[in-house]
Amino acid sequence: MSDNTATSGIEPLSGPDATATGHSPTTGLPGPTSAALGATGTDRYSVLHSLLSDRYTCRAFRPDPVPRESIERVLHLAQRTPSWCNTQPWQLSITDDPAATDRFRKALLDHMNGTAPDSDLPFPAAYNGVYRDRRRECGGALYEAVGVVRGDHEGSMRQMLRNFELFDAPHVAILTTEADLGVYGAVDCGLYLTSFLLAAQSLGIATAPQAALATYSPFLHEYFGIPEHRQIIAGVSFGYPDSDHAVNGFHTSRADLGDVVTWHTN
Ligand SMILES: Cc1cc2nc3c(=O)[nH]c(=O)nc-3n(C[C@H](O)[C@H](O)[C@H](O)COP(=O)(O)O)c2cc1C
Repeated sequence: MSDNTATSGIEPLSGPDATATGHSPTTGLPGPTSAALGATGTDRYSVLHSLLSDRYTCRAFRPDPVPRESIERVLHLAQRTPSWCNTQPWQLSITDDPAATDRFRKALLDHMNGTAPDSDLPFPAAYNGVYRDRRRECGGALYEAVGVVRGDHEGSMRQMLRNFELFDAPHVAILTTEADLGVYGAVDCGLYLTSFLLAAQSLGIATAPQAALATYSPFLHEYFGIPEHRQIIAGVSFGYPDSDHAVNGFHTSRADLGDVVTWHTN
């Protein structure tokens, strides 16, 4: 099987200590409290605040399926996503029931054996500086949650492979964009992804966005009959969360506003 650690999006536990940045890897919900932000009740800011704060990447799902009606409610809401020229370039292939998801999961795992990774879109060329630090922090928290210690290559590989088991989710959606629309089409699909995640969250449906699945784009094209002019962006495994599972017990932090905003006042 090929080594996919670099493509799962999570820093493998082979480099320096993940906590070397000085950040705590398990900081709980990041940023100011909801009260400090003025999110104190049922006003719309409060609702959005709780959706954004409570959502997390779920990496262990219960087997029970999400009713088709609920999936469609998520999709209807996500359709409201803005896009450049209102092109709405996103399309999805979705496994509607757990048996179909199982078939896909098995086929993907079979395919991975001995097949070199290949994605439609280029994966990040490098994680340098603060991006490397943040990636390490989040990878460190993930592996710590599941008891994988630094240097445990086998354990870290096992956790990485969970991506391709779809974290046992009963459903997966494969998100694609139109190649001709280029980078901005992919940007539109990124916005759509956020809408999808939040709409799911609003119905108690947990999600795991996974660029890792795009690692095997040619297989996804073939399996789901996705034409070549569509490019695979990512998969989203979804279902109801296994809330007792340790892997769902950590939350990632976020940078301070000072790290991302430059104000120009005069
Ligand atoms: C486009 C995209 C691709 C991602 N790919 C993966 C992935 O392949 N595997 C994984 O475990 N998490 C993946 N994630 C989840 C991120 O690691 C996660 O969003 C980030 O660490 C912040 O944590 P949170 O979602 O729990 O707030 C992805 C997220 C996004 C937005």
